[in-house]
Amino acid sequence: KEIVVSGIRSTGYLHLGNYFGAIRNYIKMQETFNCYFFVADWHSLTTHPDPKDLRANVFRVLAENIASGLDPEKVALYAQSDVPEIAELYLLLNMLAYKGELEKVPTFKDKVRQQPENVNAGLLTYPVLMSADILIHRGVKVPVGKDQEQHLEMARNFAQRFNNRYGYLFPEPVAFNFGDDLIKVPSLDGTGKMSKSENQMATLYLSDSDELILNKIKKAKSDSGVAVEGAPMPESVQNLFLLMQQVSTPDVIKFFEDQYQNQGIRFGDMKKQLGEDMVRFITPIREKALELQEDHAYLNRIMKAGAEKARESAAQTLHEARKLIGINYY
Ligand code: TYM
Repeated sequence: KEIVVSGIRSTGYLHLGNYFGAIRNYIKMQETFNCYFFVADWHSLTTHPDPKDLRANVFRVLAENIASGLDPEKVALYAQSDVPEIAELYLLLNMLAYKGELEKVPTFKDKVRQQPENVNAGLLTYPVLMSADILIHRGVKVPVGKDQEQHLEMARNFAQRFNNRYGYLFPEPVAFNFGDDLIKVPSLDGTGKMSKSENQMATLYLSDSDELILNKIKKAKSDSGVAVEGAPMPESVQNLFLLMQQVSTPDVIKFFEDQYQNQGIRFGDMKKQLGEDMVRFITPIREKALELQEDHAYLNRIMKAGAEKARESAAQTLHEARKLIGINYY
């Protein structure tokens, strides 16, 4: 079975970007692959979260993953910090990662702009830790959204560099999405991707109430003008159709696409339909997650079992890595 690895940072509530970029693939992949999915709690330390918030976020991310359909019996679901082997591989890979290439990573440059007062070494070596997360299990498929593409390229570079210097150990992991290209779920205000830090009214969370979902979609950017024949579809309209493709039936999608083609679309109607379909999609996940996230005993059991399974695979890889590097003395 091919090995699949992916993680989600514990930085807040999960949104539709996380769901359609990552979790939806996890759920499909759990049936046929050997899956390791984790909460990237170390990665979220770059912004120095309050310890109480961090703990709550870890439990919530676990609960939201399970509520979305992830089956802890089929995958290893764990907290990154419960697998210390990752930290050791991170140290080893850091020797093969160059300051210059790390400084050039776009997500690093964004962070430097966003938090100039806190440009720590963890931020700079973020892609190295992420590579260690994947390579520790010798993962080959990594279900992620489009925003992680460059990080995956770095993971391939580090794998290759290690293999060339010490001998073959790591397959080169590739970013994965069922279907075709990697997904970028757009923000509802028509600009950029949906994310935790952007405009809250432009981000749909798996924890949003029905009312909030309907309201956010009602306010989503559509298009003020009338469609001109032959003109390209504006990005904001493409975004609405993209969301509709995730949650509405093929008949509904076709109905509004036809209306759009015939210049007869009423965006109010389209958004009303999209809102209702979105509510139908999110409500069961929200309710299940609410129930699960307070059950720490259950979640702790899952995390422990997941970490045990992950550490078994991690220890084997680390043993091989140490041997190849020459730091196996006993
Ligand atoms: P994070 O926590 O920011 O996001 C988790 C997952 O959600 C995807 N995602 C999106 N996909 C499509 N459209 C969007 N608008 C959108 N927003 C978020 C992300 O691509 C990701 O798949 N560095 C990672 C966490 C990580 C990781 C790893 C992932 C740490 N180690 C090892 C894979 C393998 C991150 O910050 O994701």
